[in-house]
Amino acid sequence: MLEFSKFPYKNDFFQKILVKWYEQNKRDLPWRDITDPYKIWISEIILQQTRVNQGLNYYLRFINRFPTVEILANASEDEVLKYWQGLGYYSRARNLHKTAHQIRTDFQGVFPSDFSKLLQLSGIGEYTAAAIASFAFNQFHAVVDGNVYRVISRLFGIDTPIDSGIGKKQIALLAKQLLPEIDPGIYNQAIMEFGALQCVPVSPDCMVCPLQPYCKAYASDLVNILPIKN
Ligand code: ADE
Ligand code: SF4
Repeated sequence: MLEFSKFPYKNDFFQKILVKWYEQNKRDLPWRDITDPYKIWISEIILQQTRVNQGLNYYLRFINRFPTVEILANASEDEVLKYWQGLGYYSRARNLHKTAHQIRTDFQGVFPSDFSKLLQLSGIGEYTAAAIASFAFNQFHAVVDGNVYRVISRLFGIDTPIDSGIGKKQIALLAKQLLPEIDPGIYNQAIMEFGALQCVPVSPDCMVCPLQPYCKAYASDLVNILPIKN
């Protein structure tokens, strides 16, 4: 499996470095350090639409008006759409509303924690189901967004295009292999935040990176080449 056998994975060595980096560098965001699956769901859907800075305002306004899944279900679709105005992809707002109804009728108003049940909800795919299962319920599911693709591609020097079927499978497999048994939720947040703040797309500051000694892209001078996209 690639260079994985040579990677310092014993006793979660590498994972602990990432989590420590996260504790010292993470942004203070309202959907962090909470376990309410409803709020985590709303934050993830908003963040699929927009950057954190702009998403933050939408999130705060939305949660202030619809603080629970029950209140969201009781609102009119028009009002839900109003709170989505400017974000685009209105089908996502309609799906939010639909999903709130689904949770009321199919799950007695309780947000499901089961991965396969989460996938049954409108507008919740693999990524969002993994994010909710892992962030809210600390379940063993790897959350693989664009940040994670980039970090793993660079750490392991993967030059398969990340937008190809094979590339996606390779990275998803590595992401799963790297996931620690203990606190996978925090680790998932850590690797995402690491990609957002440290291992950024253009010219990351590798000189201050705690993973630099283990990074294949750095060792091979491929940091600005990876990840490859078709
Ligand atoms: N982008 C997508 N999910 C995120 C999260 N939980 N925190 C910060 N940025 C994100
Ligand atoms: Fe990313 Fe550079 Fe750190 Fe490698 S050394 S993980 S490329 S920031």
